[in-house]
Amino acid sequence: MKGRYEDLIAAAKAAMERAYAPYSGFKVGAALRTASGRIFTGCNVENASFGATICAERTAVVKAVSEGEKEFDAIAIVSSSGEVTPPCGICRQVLAEFTEDIPVIMAQENGDAKIYPLYTVFPQAKLPFEAEE
Ligand code: THU
Repeated sequence: MKGRYEDLIAAAKAAMERAYAPYSGFKVGAALRTASGRIFTGCNVENASFGATICAERTAVVKAVSEGEKEFDAIAIVSSSGEVTPPCGICRQVLAEFTEDIPVIMAQENGDAKIYPLYTVFPQAKLPFEAEE
């Protein structure tokens, strides 16, 4: 199962090295595969105003959407913690805006991974709706 995500995990690890995390020291990398096969990566980017911090997963989503890609197949997440890193609640909500029930691959730096469908880690999701004019 993990084998088919090895390239995605490797991309997330490379992105993790670019994390800007001087305050927490907790580096995170994410890699999002689009339906067209492209991979968009992201890292966490912290800020002196802590609430302005953006997570690795949302960095990847924002990069993809801003490049015209809104259909996603899978996301891999790696952190420097030595443990698997589940996405935070805000990132789960942001993923649910754009995806179906995609696999969320939570990998450790050594390659071990837990894989859960998005709706398993984020049940009863608030899904996108048609905004009124
Ligand atoms: N963080 C992520 O980038 N993704 C996660 O899934 C968990 C948390 C970041 C935010 C902050 O820079 C640091 O990790 C500590 O929470």
